[in-house]
Amino acid sequence: MTSPRTTLSLVDTDPAELAVDAIVIGVHSQTTDQESGSPAGALLLASGAESIAAAFDGKLTETLALLGATGGPGEVIKLATLGTVTAPVVAAVGLGPEPSGAAPAPETLRRAAGAAVRALAGAARVALALPLPDDADAPAALRAVSEGALLGGYRFAGYKTKPQPARRTPVAEVLVAVPDAADAAAQAEVTRAQAVAGAVRTSRDWVNTAPNELRPPSFADAVATAAREAGLGVEVLDEAALAAGGYGGILAVGQGSEAPPRLVKLTYTPEGGGNGKRVALVGKGITFDTGGISIKPAQGMWEMKSDMAGAAAVGAAMLAVAALKPSVAVTGYLPMAENMPSGTSYRPGDVITMYSGKRVEVLNTDAEGRMILADAIARACEDGADYLFETSTLTGGQVIALGKKIAGVMGTPELCERVRAAGDATGEPAWPMPLPDDVRKGMDSDVADISQVNAAMDRAGHMLQGGVFLREFVTDEVAWAHIDIAGPGYHSGEATGYWTKGGTGVPVRTLLHLVDDVAANG
Ligand code: BES
Ligand code: MN
Ligand code: ZN
Repeated sequence: MTSPRTTLSLVDTDPAELAVDAIVIGVHSQTTDQESGSPAGALLLASGAESIAAAFDGKLTETLALLGATGGPGEVIKLATLGTVTAPVVAAVGLGPEPSGAAPAPETLRRAAGAAVRALAGAARVALALPLPDDADAPAALRAVSEGALLGGYRFAGYKTKPQPARRTPVAEVLVAVPDAADAAAQAEVTRAQAVAGAVRTSRDWVNTAPNELRPPSFADAVATAAREAGLGVEVLDEAALAAGGYGGILAVGQGSEAPPRLVKLTYTPEGGGNGKRVALVGKGITFDTGGISIKPAQGMWEMKSDMAGAAAVGAAMLAVAALKPSVAVTGYLPMAENMPSGTSYRPGDVITMYSGKRVEVLNTDAEGRMILADAIARACEDGADYLFETSTLTGGQVIALGKKIAGVMGTPELCERVRAAGDATGEPAWPMPLPDDVRKGMDSDVADISQVNAAMDRAGHMLQGGVFLREFVTDEVAWAHIDIAGPGYHSGEATGYWTKGGTGVPVRTLLHLVDDVAANG
């Protein structure tokens, strides 16, 4: 199921003269300045809006204020232009207080562009005249505006049998007003943003697809088809190949479902060998998580269709890697299984021989993610990775600890810091968490090498237990980071900024940033 795509290009003509359906400008909220006594709540037009303001004879701010504009983040106020400028509509998007520096932070611009394009659904062609710096910050700002616009224009095609009203049709074409549309650096940012946003959209589509339509075999097919088209190397291990290879963890979780498990491996080889470093990306692909024999409560279980968000992010990021051609080798590993309760399910008490040879005592079949990931991680290490980034909707504990926006990161400290920095740069926040010895101690098994969870079954440090377990399958020479996205992988609230309801595409942009980071800095 693919959603319609939004296209994006640059313009450097006067925004007031652009033949578009709507022109977007930025407005800041002006907070009261005690000293100068400037009025509270006054609006301030952001740079980029000059020619539009001039066409309104200085009455634009006043008119927007009359219509209720406050300049608050995410606010979009639409105004009929009645011939003052070429576009029939001006949309003023709130940017919050005016920044002390030259331009708003990239994430402010990304969210504003997303909110504006989302609010303008129904318009075919939209131009953005937002404040862009003309200094060293210019590329990051343009990247942010472009990504925000393309992602705000996302809408899942869905399954409704009746045609949807035209006013809900996403914007087809976005123009971004810049000082010089022919500038090579600016053009490069647009090309990159298109590939990156395309990957985020693909990842959202996969997450939003109903779980009866996306089971391990069909998910593997969808990823393999897209990857082959993109020119990646593709290897799909089916249940027979998994059995022959000894992938005990993936097989155990998958054995309760009629739809058998898969392991998809995607390979990108840089021309000339790149910088010699090898990056492995691993993503959890549970196409539906009922919990298995340790079954989950009914309320909200439908959201467990998003339990493959990690694999979706890795698969989609690999497609962008194929397009962006970084100078580093990147391999994606997507273990896929459906976690179902049945007469053939794995059960609490089972001891599973994993791909690495380690034996794991199962205590809770709902801790299935780490079972499939452990095998994929061991395989990635065996293949020879220098850096391993693994991402998964692994624990409800992540949501309790860090909320629905901030991912938890565990692993090699230096790499965790790079993930945090990448999250900061992309607007996908991630925060380092510890791997405590006492948590590992609590996972000692009476009968096997390790238990899958703490036998006390208390909820203390659930997220950390996940990290500690996965560490056992990473070989010493590999730097690794585990990114738990249980919260940020799926957005059940109303759309906001460039986030739409459902799959968010987190952490596609972080992974791509990290690939660039390793390509540039080793
Ligand atoms: N897929 C869930 C984690 C999850 C919870 C993701 C909420 C997104 C939102 C995972 O497989 C799971 O069930 N985890 C258990 C682990 C426990 C049994 C150790 C959990 O978090 O309760
Ligand atoms: Mn589970
Ligand atoms: Zn799960």
